[in-house]
Amino acid sequence: MNNTFAAFTSVHDVPDIASLLEEALRIKQTPLAWSEMGRHKTLALVFFNSSLRTRLSSQKAAWNLGMNTMVVNVGTESWKLEMHDGAVMDSDTVEHIKEGAAVIGSYSDIIGVRAFASLTDKAADTSEHTLRQFQKYAAKPLMSLESALRHPLQSLSDLLTIEEVRRREGMTRRPKVVLSWAPHPKALPQAVPNSFAEWMLRADVDFVITHPEGYELDETFTQGASVITNQDEALCDADFVYAKNWSAFQGENYGKVLSNNPSWKITAEKMRLTREGKFMHCLPTRRNVEVADEVLDSPSSLVIQQAQNRVVAAQSVLKRMVAAMS
Ligand code: CP
Repeated sequence: MNNTFAAFTSVHDVPDIASLLEEALRIKQTPLAWSEMGRHKTLALVFFNSSLRTRLSSQKAAWNLGMNTMVVNVGTESWKLEMHDGAVMDSDTVEHIKEGAAVIGSYSDIIGVRAFASLTDKAADTSEHTLRQFQKYAAKPLMSLESALRHPLQSLSDLLTIEEVRRREGMTRRPKVVLSWAPHPKALPQAVPNSFAEWMLRADVDFVITHPEGYELDETFTQGASVITNQDEALCDADFVYAKNWSAFQGENYGKVLSNNPSWKITAEKMRLTREGKFMHCLPTRRNVEVADEVLDSPSSLVIQQAQNRVVAAQSVLKRMVAAMS
């Protein structure tokens, strides 16, 4: 099986998840063992949205492989890009993505792009318009740093974290993994839950999604998962609880906050329903809105391990993308 990657935008770009996980575990042990591999290769990181973990972990991963990195924040540090073909650019966009992406592509060997969902234009969001336009015009191998639909580097890191805990605790049963909607003051995209579902459904776990009525995700990502609207029932005997807010996806409610029921916050009492379950979140999280301090500050919280594993995930992916070039 060819284990190199020409692109990394979803789980569908990974021919063998088990082999990628084993490689990630090896990389975590000896992160500098391939420090010459990416010499003279340049990774450009293009951000249309804010980031802490993705920005820093991708750079560190590239440096561990000997790569150079360039980071650009579109619209603040560079020109605001026009995304529409045929646009008459007499308003606030200064440069078309056709030129902008092509120029960045000409400076780079691999490009990472972060472009969140607008939550207002469902058609553009569901086609990952910005990410795919960049891929087309940059014409270089692309690593998603979170698109309108997916966050595959986060999901790989999450799967790696679950695997590490399984091995550390000698867990021989199939773990029960619960993705729970949690309250949040703002409307957030569905990319993290979509992606987490897509990866969990290919992993050796029992996967359950719980959310209030109206927050059904796109079945493209969740088909095969158990979906339960009673959170307490879903959390029963869970080994891992992954909390995340998302806005409504279905119909006219796309991108809306339908309810913010605080009873969906993950508390110590909720965690007592689990089988001494571990708490997971991709971060950033709103303390005492999505999850109580008592959970986030407890030994059951894996959030820092997940964030640390973002470096390993990015390095595993970049290593395979660099390998595809040689
Ligand atoms: N989890 C994650 O992607 O974090 P950032 O938004 O800070 O990159």
